[in-house]
Amino acid sequence: MSSGATIVASVFFMVESKRVPKVTFIIGDGKAQEVDAPIGERLLEIAQRHGFDLEGACEGSMACSTCHVIVDPSWFGKLPEALEEEEDILDLAFGLTATSRLGCQITIDGTMDGLVVTIPGHHNNLLGR
Ligand code: FES
Repeated sequence: MSSGATIVASVFFMVESKRVPKVTFIIGDGKAQEVDAPIGERLLEIAQRHGFDLEGACEGSMACSTCHVIVDPSWFGKLPEALEEEEDILDLAFGLTATSRLGCQITIDGTMDGLVVTIPGHHNNLLGR
């Protein structure tokens, strides 16, 4: 590779490595909104920062299911698998689907750019609040 091509490749890598992943949230009325999803943040916090209706009553301690999201089927298999504790809470979530997850258990990493999730219109709060 010539030095010019090396510089171009290096600049491209630097730009790409600083790109903030995007996540699209689909909300109750079917409206989609793409937002920045910084690496290391959880879906729950990202949704809340943008004012989406994802309650997170237990603040991520896997006790409420109010952070239930439905992952687009094309993305579901690409995410890290749910822990058994998450599956147990999901079993009690309102409107459970085959691609349901807890938003508090999905931490954005560099492979999740373009992730699409739906926020269901209703949820169960297992804390009873
Ligand atoms: Fe309660 Fe996720 S915030 S289970």
